[in-house]
Amino acid sequence: MSTHQWAAIMEGDESYAGSKSFDHFKESIQEIFGYRHVIPTHQGRAAERILFHVTCKKGDVVPNNTHFDTTRANLEFVGAEALDLPIAEGKQPSLEHPFKGNMDVAALEQVIARVGRERVPLVMLTVTNNSGGGQPVSMENVRQVSEVCRRHKIPFYFDACRFAENAYFIKLREKGYESKTSKQIAQEMFRHGDGCTMSAKKDGMANIGGFLCTNDDLLAQQQKDLLILTEGYPTYGGLAGRDLEAIAVGVQEALEEDYLRYRIASTSYLGTHIAQQGVPIVRPPGGHAVYLDARAFLPHIAPTQFPGVALAAELYLQGGIRSVEIGTLMFGAAAKMDLVRLAIPRRVYTQSHIDYVVEVILEVWNHRDQICGLKLEHEAPFLRHFTARLQPIRK
Ligand SMILES: Cc1ncc(COP(=O)(O)O)c(C=O)c1O
Repeated sequence: MSTHQWAAIMEGDESYAGSKSFDHFKESIQEIFGYRHVIPTHQGRAAERILFHVTCKKGDVVPNNTHFDTTRANLEFVGAEALDLPIAEGKQPSLEHPFKGNMDVAALEQVIARVGRERVPLVMLTVTNNSGGGQPVSMENVRQVSEVCRRHKIPFYFDACRFAENAYFIKLREKGYESKTSKQIAQEMFRHGDGCTMSAKKDGMANIGGFLCTNDDLLAQQQKDLLILTEGYPTYGGLAGRDLEAIAVGVQEALEEDYLRYRIASTSYLGTHIAQQGVPIVRPPGGHAVYLDARAFLPHIAPTQFPGVALAAELYLQGGIRSVEIGTLMFGAAAKMDLVRLAIPRRVYTQSHIDYVVEVILEVWNHRDQICGLKLEHEAPFLRHFTARLQPIRK
């Protein structure tokens, strides 16, 4: 966190109700996101649980460009179907496209026609699309998805974790946005929706926290009632006043363009340097992370033997680099790719750290044929990848 965030932490107001820190938090978020109700939660997944609990039921279908693991699991927990509708380009790792995070709008229309509007309680867009390679969604796509939702009177929510990176990609890549600030772009994007869920651990630049926003008064009341049951009073929702202050500053700092320029440049530096040596990655490099294409990296390991987990384990053994599989272990049969995400912590690494990561990946690339597949030894009934245990399958 920045010095400004740490300074704000020192001024945290820990009053149970009527805390000034909540006012700072709400004002800062409303300035960017623009929604009427801002409900703090301890993390993004708590916001998701509350939103889905009050809006979804068994048999419902919730489309998204690609659901993240926690949104998928929280939907499945209430008996709803989490449906991924990325554009075709988004499913091909090596293909270059400026907005691979886009949703397939024609597929969305077809789903609504097939299952009926009453079974679609909301539509989501994840910006940037974490499970799909950290790829951005264009404003044009946001507009189109919003138009479909308005026409069918379906609420439209953002999974807004990396809203600032997405806004910056729009500035860099979408015609007409070159001279707008990232904040103006984010504000415009959120105007197309009815609310959002957010993990403040991402573009909130904070160590903990999240929030849920909505324009719907009735829904907000139901959400706050549920919040009190598990998270806390609606002016802190499981967070300390100091956390609210850190987020209030962080969401603004995430939109600073010097910061965004450095962040996107260092991710791109890592991606470009390994791709030049032949390492298969999701192209172009994402905002917060570079994604290795584990199926292409380890073609001798079938998806059922978890090539992404095998590669993540090897990176850790070789160089102490912690990454995560986003593939068959995380999503089971719903996995469209087996990726290894190298997420880059904000404001932590210098170029020499990134150079070290490049060296380790190239070492692993050079002995890739010695890496073997894995078999599952233990799995939890949901979100199994957090605690699974696997064993190498030695030939
Ligand atoms: C796109 C997306 N949605 C939701 C979440 C869940 O947020 P949290 O970890 O704060 O529960 C994450 C976390 O990585 C995410 O990347």
